[in-house]
Amino acid sequence: MGVALVTGPTAGIGREIAAELSLQGHELILVARDEARLQELAEELGNCTVLPADLSDREQLARVEQAAVGVDWLVNNAGYGINAPFHKTKVEDEQALLDVLVTAVMRLTHAAVPAMVERGRGRILNTSSVASWVPFGTYSAAKAWVTVFSEGLAAQTPAYVHVTALCPGFTRTEFHERAQMEVGGPQMMWLNAGEVAREGIRDCERGTVLSVPSLRYKTVATLAQHTPRRVLRAVSGRYKEDG
Ligand SMILES: NC(=O)c1ccc[n+]([C@@H]2O[C@H](COP(=O)([O-])OP(=O)(O)OC[C@H]3O[C@@H](n4cnc5c(N)ncnc54)[C@H](OP(=O)(O)O)[C@@H]3O)[C@@H](O)[C@H]2O)c1
Repeated sequence: MGVALVTGPTAGIGREIAAELSLQGHELILVARDEARLQELAEELGNCTVLPADLSDREQLARVEQAAVGVDWLVNNAGYGINAPFHKTKVEDEQALLDVLVTAVMRLTHAAVPAMVERGRGRILNTSSVASWVPFGTYSAAKAWVTVFSEGLAAQTPAYVHVTALCPGFTRTEFHERAQMEVGGPQMMWLNAGEVAREGIRDCERGTVLSVPSLRYKTVATLAQHTPRRVLRAVSGRYKEDG
């Protein structure tokens, strides 16, 4: 078994991915901001190195890039959302979101891939979202980048490096609470983080490039990809806030 670097393992989907990879016997490098939670998880799982870092900070990210060289699994999972329309947010907050969702994913992948190609094996699992097929602010635009980036990388790197964009729908984690989002909708639209994590890892092992956990969200993703963009924009526009 090899070494897996997981970003965002202190909660939600990333925690479940870390637990599953640990169960499979991998040594883990755990990256997030909350050092106490990282330590707690490392003690629970064993065989972990803790690397506290804010991925929106370029100097801290550089330390994570160094640690990503030579890993067998790279899991770019850390992320969050902003619950405000673009014209009401601070540009610094939009930039920080792009830094975490896009720049960190690109730079960590760039650090990890060459050694994977040289060694003849590697796994890259990027947590994207079904939101990548829907126009909805910087978050969906960034996730669209993650999905297309993963597809391009999968096409361009040798087949023994498996690259997967994990595209979940609504999943019960700390995500919505942290962004102070109130999301209703029927219970059946909510996924379990453990199931999402296991499906993503399994799809990455199989070499599946787009992993959309659950039949219901596979249906949603297929519909979104075949719906005219103007219809998707109209649906997105229903959540428009004036003024
Ligand atoms: N939940 C959903 O409905 C849903 C749906 C589709 C996609 N996703 C995606 O799934 C991924 C995981 O989210 P989640 O739902 O599991 O949310 P979560 O429970 O809030 O976990 C987010 C993780 O990201 C870490 N993180 C956030 N900002 C960071 C930063 N600046 N630097 C380093 N680490 C940071 C957090 O750790 P610290 O706070 O300790 O730094 C935490 O471990 C995200 O990419 C999200 O966009 C979520």
